[in-house]
Order: sequence, then structure tokens, then C-alpha cells
Amino acid sequence: MDTSQTTTMPAVASDSFADTARAGLPPRAGLAELQAREITAWFGDRKVLDRVSLTMPAGGITALIGPSGCGKSTFLRILNRMHELVPSAQLAGEVLLDGEDIYDPSRRLIDARRAIGMVFQKPNPFPAMSIRENVLAGLRLTGTKASRSDKDALVESCLISAGLWNEVKDRLDAPGGGLSGGQQQRLCIARSLAVKPRVLLMDEPCSALDPTSTRVIEETMVELAREVTIVIVTHNMQQAARVSDTCAFFLASHGTPGVIVEHGETRAMFEHPQDQRTADYVHGRFG
Ligand SMILES: Nc1ncnc2c1ncn2[C@@H]1O[C@H](COP(=O)(O)OP(=O)(O)OP(=O)(O)O)[C@@H](O)[C@H]1O
Ligand SMILES: [Mg+2]
Repeated sequence: MDTSQTTTMPAVASDSFADTARAGLPPRAGLAELQAREITAWFGDRKVLDRVSLTMPAGGITALIGPSGCGKSTFLRILNRMHELVPSAQLAGEVLLDGEDIYDPSRRLIDARRAIGMVFQKPNPFPAMSIRENVLAGLRLTGTKASRSDKDALVESCLISAGLWNEVKDRLDAPGGGLSGGQQQRLCIARSLAVKPRVLLMDEPCSALDPTSTRVIEETMVELAREVTIVIVTHNMQQAARVSDTCAFFLASHGTPGVIVEHGETRAMFEHPQDQRTADYVHGRFG
């Protein structure tokens, strides 16, 4: 293996504030590990993922990286049972949340979705609904009942966790659509948190945002990882290096199904990748 070129990597790993922010903090009790075992996925008869296994540690941030079309979003959707919404979609393998298979037929779909929340690329608050109602929207969908004071406390704590409280506390009844893009994304994070998920999946959550909003979301993620396990898809290598503890590099070469070429501790993957394809990708030589 040629590792001579890996030294040209920009100093992204040393820019990591994930380490600094969490240094010395033990993971909170109740944090859940997510484990994918031998995941194979199809759309119709086209196989798009082939026996992908990955452990996403409790209370950590795992980054999924790789070129367009290699199956990162498909893998993420499999992690909270959204893949099955596509009529032609099929799946083999297991997803274990703290050792329990979320696809077990005796388990309810709603429980998997509540435990494993999702934030999308494009912020998607309900634009006409107030900020407060946006945060509470998930409760209605999952049929959770709460008193007015419980709701107030929940709105405040979720907005604090999502790093948005100070900016909106005086206008909770204003429409969610009136916020900036970065604020809307944090509102969506707050909405996801309201149902108390154990895992938060984020599919390119900053790709539609400016650098300042991106930075705020990254800092929010690092804080949130004390409460929930986070899995983020990103095309931004600096972002992966800044926020994630572990990383998985997906690749689907020449029309073959996506596989994980390499995974492990983020710093090691960026500074000493074991596979030449990983080195080429993290150095921006393709993809
Ligand atoms: N609903 C769908 N129906 C059919 N094929 C799909 C569907 N969604 C994704 N695919 C195919 O599955 C493969 C993986 O797509 P996926 O969106 O998971 O890639 P990705 O790694 O997230 O890409 P990007 O970085 O561009 O978001 C692609 O070949 C894509 O065309
Ligand atoms: Mg995608």
C-alpha cells in the first residue's frame, strides 16, 4: 500500500472539536448502539448495497462518506425502516438497536421510527405552523399525550438541545417558515428530539447551509451526542473530520452494489487510511 500521499491531507483531523468537547465526559446512561449486520438492499432487481455491516457506537458520531450513488442514503433509510416505503425496495440483513432487531415482525414500525429519528438534507419544517407547534409535531404523529406545562418544558429543552432556544424564545408563536435556513434545520433537529429518540440519522444536514450555520449545526451535533447516538452522511471531508468519532467509507465501483471499503476511528481513517481508495477519496482525488 502506498501511504506516501496521505501526509498531504489538510489538517482536518487536528481541527476536530468533537474530541475537545467530549473529553473526559462519560457517555450518559441510556445511550444506544446501532448495529447493521450484512445489509443487502435492492430496488427492483437492482442490488444497491451488498452485505454491509457496521457498528455505530452508543453516544458517538459516525460519519458515512463516499461518492454519489454508492448507497449512503439508502443505508441510512434502512436504519429507521424508511427503505420499505419504496414499493420496489427489498432488504436482507439485520439492524439491531441495543441488540434488538428493529425489523423483528413482532415489533411495531412506529417504535423503530420514534427511537431512530431522521433529519434530511433540505430543512423541512411545517412552514405555516408555529415554531412551538413544529417542535411538538412529532408527538401528534406518534400519538404521545402531554399536558400544556409538559409541552412548554419539552419545547424549551428541545430548542436548547438543538442550539436554537436563544434565537427564538421570544417568538415561539411565529411561523417556522420565517426562520433562516440554518435555523429551520435546527428547528427540524428540535422536532426530532421531541419524541426522545435514541439515535438521530442526518442525511447531509448542512449541504444547503452557509458556513456559519454549518458550524452552529456541527457544534449542536457534538453536544447532542451526549444524549443520542448520531449517524451523519456528509460529502464534506472537513466536516466528517471535525465532528465524527468513527467513519465508514462506502463505494460502488463500476455499477457494482455499494460496500464499505474501510471503517474505523475517523482520525486513523483520515491520517492513515488502510485502503488506497480511501486515501484517494479523503484527499479529494475522486468522487
Ligand atoms: N427510490 C429509488 N428507486 C430506485 N433506485 C434508487 C432509489 N433510491 C436510490 N436508488 C438507487 O440506489 C443507489 C444508491 O442511491 P443512494 O441515494 O443511496 O446514494 P447516495 O450514496 O446517498 O448518493 P448521494 O451522495 O448522491 O446522495 C443509486 O444507484 C440510486 O440510483
Ligand atoms: Mg444521498
